[in-house]
Amino acid sequence: MAGMKQFKILVTHPEIPSVAIRKLEERCELVICPEVPYPSREQILSKISTDFDGILWLSKHRMDKEVLDLAGPKLKVVATVAVGYDNIEVVEAKKRGIKVGNTPGVLDAAVAEIAVCLLLEVARRVPEGRNCILEGKWEAVRPQWLLGKDLQGSTVGIVGLGNIGQAIAKRLLPFGIEKLIYSGHKRKPEGDKLGGIFVIFDELLKQSDFIVVACPLTEETRHLFNAKAFAEMKPSAILVNIARGDVIDQEALISALQTGKIWGAALDVMTPEPLPSDHPLTKLKNCVLAPHLGSATEKTRAAMAMLAVDNILAALDGSEMPAPL
Ligand code: DGY
Repeated sequence: MAGMKQFKILVTHPEIPSVAIRKLEERCELVICPEVPYPSREQILSKISTDFDGILWLSKHRMDKEVLDLAGPKLKVVATVAVGYDNIEVVEAKKRGIKVGNTPGVLDAAVAEIAVCLLLEVARRVPEGRNCILEGKWEAVRPQWLLGKDLQGSTVGIVGLGNIGQAIAKRLLPFGIEKLIYSGHKRKPEGDKLGGIFVIFDELLKQSDFIVVACPLTEETRHLFNAKAFAEMKPSAILVNIARGDVIDQEALISALQTGKIWGAALDVMTPEPLPSDHPLTKLKNCVLAPHLGSATEKTRAAMAMLAVDNILAALDGSEMPAPL
């Protein structure tokens, strides 16, 4: 019947790009969690009922058994608007025959840009320098003032050479780095193509001047960077994390930065998020922080939302999802 919507979809955040909402609305009745700036888990749960065909999960909250129980057997698909899915209980959903999709690929460039941006900011002490200007402490008359670290000629270690890790490597190579190394499960043809050398994690810790964390958060990678790892790193090393906060044991990082076990860090992700403004990490001059801006560009967020919508519609049409998990 003309005008009749085929499916009913829950959208867990009101700030979803309008281009994606319009596409979904053509065929679906939408229930959108309205709370700004961010619906709580309870507010999302209160909207879930047994008449949804799909959920567009735009939230850092866990999509778990409780959510699936509330949605019941009609639910066919959950599409998360993120590439990382450590908050999504994929196995539990699949056990129930529910398809799950994420948004790989479309955010690689944006996240890689943030990684390069943060790496240069901490290496060249840009935020620290800005604070000096604001505090009236510009001391450029001193030739040894605010000296940083060169990316040119350095060894860069990437932890996790997936799509994002590769995008970061591609952007760092033209800076004239001396050596690209990476760790992960295995040597990769993509790594060979980039001229990268596969090393075990301990070797990466020892050799790298810059380490960029680009691996997913799993039980294997949780607190991969702990006190022992920091003790292996060069005292001149810089750590950049654009993956997930919990890949790093934050207490150990704070101590490593305070005691000079490593030279600096730049974090786009941390624990918790949002980080309280008086958190010890905010007090460290040698730590640059960004509020999880990795994929936060207009084009990228729209592309992510569109891919999530395409995942939902494909699953409901019974066809191959463009980005299944
Ligand atoms: C992701 O997609 O996992 C990013 O962290 C979101 O910004």
